Amino acid sequence: AQLGDKIAAKGKANFGAAADANTLQNANVQRLLQEEFSSVTPENSMKWEVIQPSLGTFNFQQSDALVDFAVENGLDIRGHTLVWHSQLPAYVDAIIDKDQLLALMENHINTTMSRYQGKIFQWDVVNEVFEEDGSFRNSVFFRLLGEEFIDTAFNIAASVDPSSKLYINDFNLDGPGPKIDAMIGLLGRLQTRGVPIDGVGSQAHLILGQVGSVGAQLARLAETGLEVAITELDIRIEAPVDQAKLIQQQQDYQTVVGDCIGIAACVGVTVWGVGDKDSWVDATFAGFDSPLLFDDGFVKKPAYAGVEAAL
Ligand code: XIL
Repeated sequence: AQLGDKIAAKGKANFGAAADANTLQNANVQRLLQEEFSSVTPENSMKWEVIQPSLGTFNFQQSDALVDFAVENGLDIRGHTLVWHSQLPAYVDAIIDKDQLLALMENHINTTMSRYQGKIFQWDVVNEVFEEDGSFRNSVFFRLLGEEFIDTAFNIAASVDPSSKLYINDFNLDGPGPKIDAMIGLLGRLQTRGVPIDGVGSQAHLILGQVGSVGAQLARLAETGLEVAITELDIRIEAPVDQAKLIQQQQDYQTVVGDCIGIAACVGVTVWGVGDKDSWVDATFAGFDSPLLFDDGFVKKPAYAGVEAAL
């Protein structure tokens, strides 16, 4: 694991990539995970809609495939994600009874985490709880249970797999503003209440040329005393992609990975996919492209050299 070994030599836990059974069908994805990375995050297979598509029916086929591949190849696994408003089946959104939701949350976290007990080095217990203005997202969890749903989720998770580091994860924590302020406020309250949280993940879905504030914000998250991780890094380029933009992307990757290296509490970096071909960016951000370290043919891009330079 080239990048994985290099980041380990800097005292960090992992340099990982997102993958799943679908992308693993490509031999290049398997090879690059083996050669370059030291951890893997299931891009979709551990989300609620996949694990428990209908009430009480669990399906671990895809997540088992990812976990088996990781174990066979000595890759650590970031679990993603237990309690999230998105990719959540309609039967959960439709709940109006507080106790029913609590019981369901408890069962979902229990069943999912215990299946992989001892195999997941970090779990994203809750994901994306904030709106951009720093208010809590109006998810079914917040609506029925209030902020305490976060305490509850972490308490359940800690009781199921005490060997796993428990994370809260969110996006747009890359610049100053109400969202990261709210996150830092919440982290303080969770710590005051003795909630068993270990870390905060900054997804870092970034835009070319707009990475200058990332380091200072990671440092602010680190000041809480929790671990910090970059959990879903990609740096998207507005089409048309040209050589100058790819060189800018190299610099941007060097900056962001270097930001993590420079912060003692930052334990690792995960990129959100191996090759550009499989990235969610194409389907999600119209007019943007080419966000990862390997191109559509799984050949190293300049961005790869940027990461190497930071390591
Ligand atoms: C994305 C996946 O990459 C897509 O394949 C899927 O269609 C939608 O979700 N924040 C997260 C990730 O926490 O789970 C999301 O992953 C990207 C944004």
